[in-house]
Amino acid sequence: MASFLSLLFVFYVIVIMSSSLPTTSENFAKESPVFASAKPLEKLTQLHFYFHDSIRGKNPTSMYIVEPPKGSINRFGSLIMMDDPLTEGPGPNSKLVGRSQGMYAVASQHEYGLSIMASFLFTEGIYNGSTLSIVGMNHALQNVREISVVGGSGVFRYARGSALLKTYFYNGISGAAIVECNVSAIHV
Ligand SMILES: *[C@@H]1O[C@H](CO)[C@@H](O)[C@H](O)[C@H]1NC(C)=O
Ligand SMILES: *[C@@H]1O[C@H](CO)[C@@H](O)[C@H](O)[C@H]1NC(C)=O
Repeated sequence: MASFLSLLFVFYVIVIMSSSLPTTSENFAKESPVFASAKPLEKLTQLHFYFHDSIRGKNPTSMYIVEPPKGSINRFGSLIMMDDPLTEGPGPNSKLVGRSQGMYAVASQHEYGLSIMASFLFTEGIYNGSTLSIVGMNHALQNVREISVVGGSGVFRYARGSALLKTYFYNGISGAAIVECNVSAIHV
């Protein structure tokens, strides 16, 4: 009787153990739970600076690479390359924080409209070497213009956002402009 009970016990243990063994034999695949908290939080950075564009004068920061075609109205069709300094304040001797490098094209026949495609390349502090890419229409005679921030690099990787531009100073004779710029960018 005792040996029958111990036999029954051993049988019972084997059943319990075998039920906890894996029931599939695949070695090429492994499932593991996904944790919802794996996505990093995004950050919002707001920047305030001035850019200085001078197309004529002694040390131009921008120049025509395509002159306006014959018969063009309001210089429509011309293309300008720029390498404009970005400064903390509006003064010409204010601290340099970066450069705006890229192009703008006169893209409107009806009002003064510049189609702009450029990178803001920052050179100050933790932003040194990081860029924001901007694309959009700059209707330069309007009070405030909004341009899209479509990307970025460095600390601004995966950026998206907007840049608000407002003319701070313009001299029609020298072609010198100082433009206030507020940028909001969401990035990782
Ligand atoms: C920014 O980085 C460049 C290249 O690494 C370096 O030469 C320069 O001194 C840096 N500028 C500032 C203001 O830290
Ligand atoms: C930028 O922001 C400052 C501070 O909020 C504000 O005084 C200024 O009018 C803004 N400029 C533009 C072009 O949005």
